[in-house]
Amino acid sequence: MSPAKTVKDYIRTIVDFPHEGILFRDVTTLFADPRGFRMCVDQLLAPYVGVRIDKVVGLEARGFILGGAVAHQLSTGFVPIRKKGKLPGQTISQAYTLEYGEAVVEVHEDSMQPGETVLLVDDLLATGGTAEAGIKLIERLGARVAGCAFVVDLPDLGGRKRLETMGMDVHALCA
Ligand code: PRP
Ligand code: ADE
Repeated sequence: MSPAKTVKDYIRTIVDFPHEGILFRDVTTLFADPRGFRMCVDQLLAPYVGVRIDKVVGLEARGFILGGAVAHQLSTGFVPIRKKGKLPGQTISQAYTLEYGEAVVEVHEDSMQPGETVLLVDDLLATGGTAEAGIKLIERLGARVAGCAFVVDLPDLGGRKRLETMGMDVHALCA
């Protein structure tokens, strides 16, 4: 009998996407598999069962897919952090640098209340620039980040250290 598949087994790597030299971890194959997707969502939220979480915040775009499923399971609200210009209401913005570029993310200013506790969810932690920008937005609204949950952590890119230096609890399913 072959060993049970892990979350990592469902993720494929695409070489040189979106730029030469990038090994792109493609989680669409994980999301497309019913066992893989359930396993991944269950493992992402496991440390937070019984912890007070008022909102799950998902980072565009793959963090929406995961964050929506996690919020449903934890019976919390869901809040999207989006790339600049996508949210229709009043927003606050935060600039950041990526493994391959620069960007600005935004959140609705009435999406979280001071004192609320938030779980940040995304598919992948690389340099940590995106997550750090998300954390800054959440904290600027007066909410507290109880944890940051990722499917993939690429430790060589330093994201985990960067977030842990900010005092964050980082949970990742595979490297
Ligand atoms: C990817 C990934 C994370 C981010 C991680 O998103 O989904 O959000 O990069 O990189 P970092 O830790 O170096 O910030 P991407 O910016 O490619 O956006 P997309 O999901 O909208 O394609
Ligand atoms: N975002 C930043 N780096 C990435 C990578 N190597 N694979 C997938 N998404 C990413």
